[in-house]
Amino acid sequence: KSVSAKAAPAPFLRAGVMGWPVDHSLSPKVHGFWLQQYDIEGEYVRIPVAPQDFAQKIKSLKADGFVGVNVTVPHKQAALRAVDEIHPLAQRIGAVNTVVVREDGSLFGFNTDGFGFLENLKAGFNAFDAGNGPAVVLGAGGAARAVIAALLDAGAPEVRILNRTKERAEDLAKDLRGLGSGSILVGDWERRGDYLQDAVLLTNTTTLGMHGRRSLDLDLTALPQSALVNDIVYVPLQTDLLARAQDRGNPTVDGLGMLLHQARPGFEAWFGRLPEVTDALRAHVLKGV
Ligand code: ATR
Repeated sequence: KSVSAKAAPAPFLRAGVMGWPVDHSLSPKVHGFWLQQYDIEGEYVRIPVAPQDFAQKIKSLKADGFVGVNVTVPHKQAALRAVDEIHPLAQRIGAVNTVVVREDGSLFGFNTDGFGFLENLKAGFNAFDAGNGPAVVLGAGGAARAVIAALLDAGAPEVRILNRTKERAEDLAKDLRGLGSGSILVGDWERRGDYLQDAVLLTNTTTLGMHGRRSLDLDLTALPQSALVNDIVYVPLQTDLLARAQDRGNPTVDGLGMLLHQARPGFEAWFGRLPEVTDALRAHVLKGV
């Protein structure tokens, strides 16, 4: 009697990104690179889904052979409503960007933007610890929500939010108050240079400084030279803010790493391996951006 020692073939794993439009998403490039690097039998595809089709499309992921998806603009809030179980931090932020399809077809939603943000800071600047002092965050959009939630969750004693539309910052503060043990201060955008004293971190989550937009006008005089300065804008990589911070001696971290690090937990959940962010990946993603 012959004994077959042949192992069962690895299952083909399918994931992707749902968005509208989704042509410009860099996620297929990131996950495609890792699938190849780790020699995993799988694919990561673009899934264009119009808003009116989203609820039905996400329900059929299991039937369509998906182990999970990323969710991007404009579906992050709809995803929160569509999944069967939500991670508490995603619930707080009000947005789901990563979905796992479980064996029984049920959907688990979480948000990896805050993880990506913090991992990027730690990877770029060894000594970074959110617990060390106040953080200043410019902006109050979706990205700011994830960033501020992550900082409070990681032990920031105080987060100072500055946004052109103050009301939006106040709404955000209301939603995130009580997370961690830190306090939230909403400042005046017009006096933004006055909130930098004692800060250990300054992060720009606005679109100012992005290619084609005006640059961020902020007087850095009051910022300690030891404070880490970060921009989540990554086109261009070197924004005016980062250049000015470097000129006065502050350490800086650019925004590309947040995009790359936020992709890691999804890849791990779907494909079974926590991938690495390397210079080769950065170069691959930057090609053609
Ligand atoms: P995201 O979800 O990616 O964070 P968003 O919701 O469009 O994007 O948020 C963009 C951020 O950039 C907001 O904080 C916005 O300020 P408002 O809430 O006042 O709109 C900020 N922003 C965009 N253009 C700006 C400008 N010219 N001056 C100041 N802030 C600006």
